Amino acid sequence: MKALVSAEIEAYATAHSMGESEICRTLRAETHQQMDCPQMLVGPLEGALLKLLTQIVRAAHVLEIGMFTGYSALCFAEALPKEGTVTTCEIDETSAAVARRYFAMSPHGQKITVRMGPALETMRAINAHYDVIFIDADKQNYLNYYRRSKELLSPNGVIVIDNVLWDGEVLVEPPPDERTAAIQELNRAVASDPDVSAAVLTIRDGVLLIGRKV
Ligand SMILES: C[S@@+](CC[C@H](N)C(=O)[O-])C[C@H]1O[C@@H](n2cnc3c(N)ncnc32)[C@H](O)[C@@H]1O
Repeated sequence: MKALVSAEIEAYATAHSMGESEICRTLRAETHQQMDCPQMLVGPLEGALLKLLTQIVRAAHVLEIGMFTGYSALCFAEALPKEGTVTTCEIDETSAAVARRYFAMSPHGQKITVRMGPALETMRAINAHYDVIFIDADKQNYLNYYRRSKELLSPNGVIVIDNVLWDGEVLVEPPPDERTAAIQELNRAVASDPDVSAAVLTIRDGVLLIGRKV
């Protein structure tokens, strides 16, 4: 992944943000040692942002689309009150096995429910509202995930979408591939959606924050 800011600025920002838990640090190290594409995990700086957002909106229920080895799910769980819940969607059993092992070790792991299978099907089957919805799975479905998330979002909730600057590829016209095109389409749809207010943050690979228009 291309860095949007220098390594020094990234390190400084991380050092001056909420630190990651010991268990998240260990999970991150194992993911880097043993998994393909370990850079998919949000890491400590974006993790701090997710935890802070969870606290600011006083979230009780979080929905995550794309769990991987469970790093961001654990960040959410750590930021939630005791009775809080994280529902997280994943399609890959190998990643889920790692995640489950770490959830079992964490004092916050019992807040997390893993829903295996295509996330869009899971989202369509859900009949509940969520205070934070984090979209971080297959890019071709981003617009579908966004549309369903609007229906599942609680009145004061926030939708967070990862990788919306896509290594800077969003600037390339025409888009070089389907995933870039899907992210461009999502960004245009959100920016022109009269129902919501949005801000793109240049953290990591670009993080889109979306709330209902007040
Ligand atoms: C970028 S990773 C998620 C990283 C995770 N949020 C973190 O920060 O630790 C995306 C994950 O979405 C999963 N995924 C891809 N397509 C999916 C689908 N259609 N339904 C559910 N999960 C999917 C992948 O297997 C992968 O583990």
